[in-house]
Amino acid sequence: MTSLSARDRLIVALDLPSIEEALALTRRIGDACRFYKIGHQLLFTGGERLARELIAAGNKIFIDAKLLDIEETVAKGTASIASLGATFLTVHAYPHAMAAARRGAGSSGLQILGVTVMTNLNDGDLDQIGYALDVRRLVERRVRQALEAGIAGVVASAAEAPMIRALAGERLLIVTPGIRRAEDAAHDQKRVLCPREAIRSGSDYLVVGRPILAAADPRGAAQGFQDEIAHALEHRP
Ligand code: C5P
Repeated sequence: MTSLSARDRLIVALDLPSIEEALALTRRIGDACRFYKIGHQLLFTGGERLARELIAAGNKIFIDAKLLDIEETVAKGTASIASLGATFLTVHAYPHAMAAARRGAGSSGLQILGVTVMTNLNDGDLDQIGYALDVRRLVERRVRQALEAGIAGVVASAAEAPMIRALAGERLLIVTPGIRRAEDAAHDQKRVLCPREAIRSGSDYLVVGRPILAAADPRGAAQGFQDEIAHALEHRP
């Protein structure tokens, strides 16, 4: 695991309908989180401006665009996103897309994350799509390809994190959604883990949306996640 501090590991997913609401939420959270994910809901409703404003205010930004296209298009799209000053960008973990995104990021500091296999897909879904591999073997193959492409990390469920650590050691960051504390509702997440379990499984960054977005006290909720992450790191075996 990397030497990241506990406070840098929480990423709040800004899954909200407008940038005004997103900015208001980040003001309420204050310094209980300094890393925000902007996904499809906000990307085309002012997400670029939101990213610039949050970066100017001292936050890090994760652009969850899950790019997949021909190499030149992925490379140029990545270069545009790099010019925003974002920290993380997702691409689907196809070898050509990962290599192209890495090339497009150049020396900008933008780190590329590969989405190995979407966590809403099971073995039957992969068979239906036309893949010969089951989920586990496809994740394994894509982790090896992420290493070959030289990207920074992968998005993966905490259930897959131990296998990824075994394959990649410290050479890939593991960014994990689907995190809930004991008191939070699971919503539509099928496999949720608490912050302690995710950290123990080898996750570096935890992505949390609704338990913080829907909280009466978002700052308190974010701080609660921070405290659990810090505690898990202190007591890591
Ligand atoms: O609200 P919740 O904490 O479930 O939000 C999780 C965030 O992580 C959402 O933005 C969702 O799109 C994202 N995500 C996920 N599962 C994946 C990949 C991304 O939940 N496999």
